[in-house]
Amino acid sequence: MKHIAIFASGQGTNAQAIIEYFKDHPSITVSLVLTNKPGAGVLQIAHHYKIISAIVSKKALEDEPTMSRLLDALEIDFIVLAGFLQKAPAFLLHKFSRQIVNIHPALLPKFGGKGMYGIKVHEAVLGNHETETGITIHYVNEQYDEGEIILQQRIAIEKTDTPHTLATKVQVLEHEWYPKTIEQVLA
Ligand code: GAR
Repeated sequence: MKHIAIFASGQGTNAQAIIEYFKDHPSITVSLVLTNKPGAGVLQIAHHYKIISAIVSKKALEDEPTMSRLLDALEIDFIVLAGFLQKAPAFLLHKFSRQIVNIHPALLPKFGGKGMYGIKVHEAVLGNHETETGITIHYVNEQYDEGEIILQQRIAIEKTDTPHTLATKVQVLEHEWYPKTIEQVLA
C-alpha cells in the first residue's frame, strides 16, 4: 500500500475529491490530512472520512524530527499539497524527492508565485485579458509553483466570465484531474 498525506490550509474540496477517489483503492490510501490552520474546513472532511489529521504550527512543520516522527509513524510515501499555504521545508523536499506534488489553479508559469492563491489568481488571469486558463499539477521544489509540470488542462475564457465563474470552472477540472494524476504518478 502507498500511503498519501494531504497538506491543505483551506476548505479542502480537493482533499475530499482525492479521499473519495482512493476510498476503496487496492494500492493507494490517504493516511493523513495535515493543516497549518486550526479552523480549516479540511479538518471536518478528515473527520468525516475517519482519516487521521494533524494541525501543525509553522515551527513544527519546519522541525525535522517532529515531522519525520509523524510521517514515519504513518508510513507516508507521498505528499499531496492541496491549497497548502506554507512552503515545504528543504528537509521534506529531500526526504520526499519527486514525491511531493501541488496543484495550481492557472496555467503555470503564468500567474504563480508567492501570494498567488485562490481568487487572486483568477482576478489576475482576467486582468491580463487571457483567452484561456486551467490547472497545473507539478512536482514541488524550493520555489513556489516552479517544479516540473506533470499535467495541464485548459479551458477557454468566455466574455461573461468573472473571477468567481472561473474559480468554479477551474475547481471542476481540479477535482477531475488531481486524483487520477496522483494515481498515475504513483503507478
Ligand atoms: C485550489 O484551487 C488550489 O488550486 C489552490 O488552492 C485551492 C484549494 O482549494 N492552490 C493554490 O492556489 C496554490 N498556489 P480547496 O481547499 O477547496 O481544495
